[in-house]
Amino acid sequence: MKLDDLKTLSGGTKTILDLFEQIPNRAQEFSASTGDMLFDYSKTQIDGDIRAALIKLCDDAGLADRREAMFSGAKINETEGRAVLHTALRNLDGGPVQVDGLDVMPDVLDTLHRMRIFAEEVRGGTYTGAGGSFTDVVNIGIGGSDLGPVMATHALSPYHDGPRLHYVSNVDGAHIADTLRQLDPTRTLVIVASKTFTTIETMTNARTARAWMSEGGGDPARQFAAVSSALDKTQAFGIPAERVFGFADWVGGRYSVWGPVGLPVMIAVGSNAFDAFLRGGQSMDVHFRAAEWAENLPVMLALVGIWHRQVLGHASRAVLPYDQRLLRLPAYFQQLEMESNGKSVAMDGTALEVASGPVVWGEPGTNGQHAFYQLIHQGTDVIPCEFMVAAEGHEPELAHHHRLLLANCLAQSEALMRGRSLDEARDRMAAKGLEGAELDRQARHRVFPGNRPSTTLIYPQLTPFVLGQVIALYEHRVFVEGVLLGINSFDQWGVELGKELATSLGPIVDGEEDTAGKDGSTAALVAYALRQRGE
Ligand code: F6P
Repeated sequence: MKLDDLKTLSGGTKTILDLFEQIPNRAQEFSASTGDMLFDYSKTQIDGDIRAALIKLCDDAGLADRREAMFSGAKINETEGRAVLHTALRNLDGGPVQVDGLDVMPDVLDTLHRMRIFAEEVRGGTYTGAGGSFTDVVNIGIGGSDLGPVMATHALSPYHDGPRLHYVSNVDGAHIADTLRQLDPTRTLVIVASKTFTTIETMTNARTARAWMSEGGGDPARQFAAVSSALDKTQAFGIPAERVFGFADWVGGRYSVWGPVGLPVMIAVGSNAFDAFLRGGQSMDVHFRAAEWAENLPVMLALVGIWHRQVLGHASRAVLPYDQRLLRLPAYFQQLEMESNGKSVAMDGTALEVASGPVVWGEPGTNGQHAFYQLIHQGTDVIPCEFMVAAEGHEPELAHHHRLLLANCLAQSEALMRGRSLDEARDRMAAKGLEGAELDRQARHRVFPGNRPSTTLIYPQLTPFVLGQVIALYEHRVFVEGVLLGINSFDQWGVELGKELATSLGPIVDGEEDTAGKDGSTAALVAYALRQRGE
């Protein structure tokens, strides 16, 4: 079975509402669960034949073997010659995991142990800054060294009982200036998180923070920690080895929140809550490895994604968490999905014959409803939506808020599926007293095409364990989609060219070199900036 063969199935598909009429227990048949988490994909046009064909893709692509290759430490990141083992970071009770014949688990568990001790010392005030116990922690990192911990810190705010957390990522001086302005340099811990310890944004911000701390009476030798795989570089920066938390090259940046990159989260919520997060991820690993394809959440989420993007051709998908604390989840998934599967070359170096992964975007509900949902309901493009919501919030005294939130989430997927016909719209206009051509004109604006697909992930409450499940679910979804597309989901060569050009433009923007060799647009924009600076 090839992806192209599936296109023949897409031609005569029935509407989603037809499918609900034909299959009385469709909601049960077209959903999958693990533990208390339920993934409902019944509000899509996938029927039994389409699902069978999609599942056959998994067998034909050798998904089971690829999955085991990943978990067992084979070098499946072939363009970088690396294993892909972020799962080892949450393998709390698991057995040995070998890379190049060596068990990596002792190192993983040792680093986790060191993180726990350090986090609890910072939280408990037994490790202090020059001015006393730490009131604030600033994490400096970007991409995978920022998005995961930021997202998780917001998500777990009901569990946050450690010092205040701040994240600085952008090289725009506004970011670090606005952050440091409010802080005491003698009671702030700075964590420099960079896998490579060369990323220009992070190193620029780290040097600025170090100068700010020294000038303000703090002690950078004591108040800086690092999270990195480049131990030589952290040492050269002046961070003592006991406060460096390393991880191996088999953890990709966008998959790294489970290990030392999660240190700020551990400081915020404590090591027990962080353990629960790891256990949530680990439980999804166990499910992913064991469940039949049709019962397997990551696999079915991936197949729904493939159906919408590669078969039906929908160019984007919206991630819509009905949870204000998941406000950074869409940004996190953007990196996870688009950096992983935004590729046009197959693993063997040939051009990809199908579409790459889609554009991923979103915002929490209900905010998005008052912004971009107009286009999702009535625009000319179909945008598959991925809703997620908890059955319960964390504020029992505000349970009525949560019920409204849930009702809105369910209403949106129902509205997308059901739509509103011209006849229904006409009846409404007639009831308002309109007639003739004006009734017709007004009614047309109120038609909703309907039959627009969505999935819903629902879980009891956004606990650390559930957050771990959700993140691991999407990681494995990306992996499955990558295998079915035949691409390497674990490299990111597409970010390199811009970095190289930025380096070469540095001295030009500084006014030290001229723009010879640059295109007319770039030269004119540089000239504008220099003129504005009076140079
Ligand atoms: O530029 C892309 C990228 O390499 C991401 O993949 C990564 O998460 C980010 O930069 C940050 O890299 P580092 O952790 O090495 O600073």
